[in-house]
Amino acid sequence: MIESMGPGRTAVVTGGASGIGLASATRFAAAGMNVVVVDWRDELFGAAEQGLRAAGAAEVMCRKVDVSDRAAVTALEAEVTEAFGGADLIMCNAGIQPGSDIFDDKGTWAQILAVNLGGVVNTAQVFGPGMVARGRPATIIVTGSKQGITTPPGDPAYNTAKAGVKAFAEALAHEMRNSAPHVSVHLLIPGFVFTDLTRHDRTEKPSGAWTPEQTADFMMTSLERGDFYILCPDNDVDRATDEKRMAWAVGDIIENRPPLSRWHPDYGDAFAEFLKSG
Ligand SMILES: NC(=O)c1ccc[n+]([C@@H]2O[C@H](COP(=O)([O-])OP(=O)(O)OC[C@H]3O[C@@H](n4cnc5c(N)ncnc54)[C@H](O)[C@@H]3O)[C@@H](O)[C@H]2O)c1
Repeated sequence: MIESMGPGRTAVVTGGASGIGLASATRFAAAGMNVVVVDWRDELFGAAEQGLRAAGAAEVMCRKVDVSDRAAVTALEAEVTEAFGGADLIMCNAGIQPGSDIFDDKGTWAQILAVNLGGVVNTAQVFGPGMVARGRPATIIVTGSKQGITTPPGDPAYNTAKAGVKAFAEALAHEMRNSAPHVSVHLLIPGFVFTDLTRHDRTEKPSGAWTPEQTADFMMTSLERGDFYILCPDNDVDRATDEKRMAWAVGDIIENRPPLSRWHPDYGDAFAEFLKSG
């Protein structure tokens, strides 16, 4: 049992109306918590609230808030504190992936950075001080991405935002460990999960993807163990493969290879060998 979860406690989940956020909110509901769903898409609130009540939530509050809007997040925090006496758990999870290109011809960089990085920072900075001050056991979960660690080619703005999210979560964990050990911080690193973010024109879950529910279950087990890095596998990529990919990425610096050498024609064979090595 995680101390910040349970009856009388309150969870705030951004991006909570869909996908990984909703599946996680459902786990918090099942623990008998008050659940605050924060999302931009209010058309999803009816179904989300119904599901969360059925799962066992004490109270459900759904709020249409853009997490990149600091003033709106501040107003939300005041409302949550008024209604429930403050948040015991926050999951900074709202995210978008509209695609990006290096010189921003698509014009998506500002929004991706504002939501995926700015939204995480806003939520943690607005809710965090109250969690510290109240002195109750508290949990901050930040949703990152493997793309923020191995930074594969194809979506540089998303990678840049998620690399920032990782750095922010690590710094926050360090600060809390030293100054407010009743607040634990965790970086959720999903694998490939079939959600609205990754659906595109697909109707069926690809065999390689996990469901949001599998991801939330893995997260809960990892939280119970106290893990900071919650590195989720999926049906195509196991932990050993992720470990190799991350080690290779850091190895670019250590071995003085070019960046993203995993995708460099001169290093393809060496990476394939490295993957096979024990
Ligand atoms: N699905 C994957 O494979 C995958 C992999 C790695 C990381 N992630 C991350 O997981 C998180 C959740 O994504 P998901 O896959 O469940 O997708 P999702 O689209 O189902 O959920 C994201 C939710 O965030 C909401 N949102 C977007 N912008 C917002 C804003 N400005 N303010 C408030 N809410 C906003 C969306 O409306 C949506 O409901 C994201 O941070 C995403 O980057 C997903």
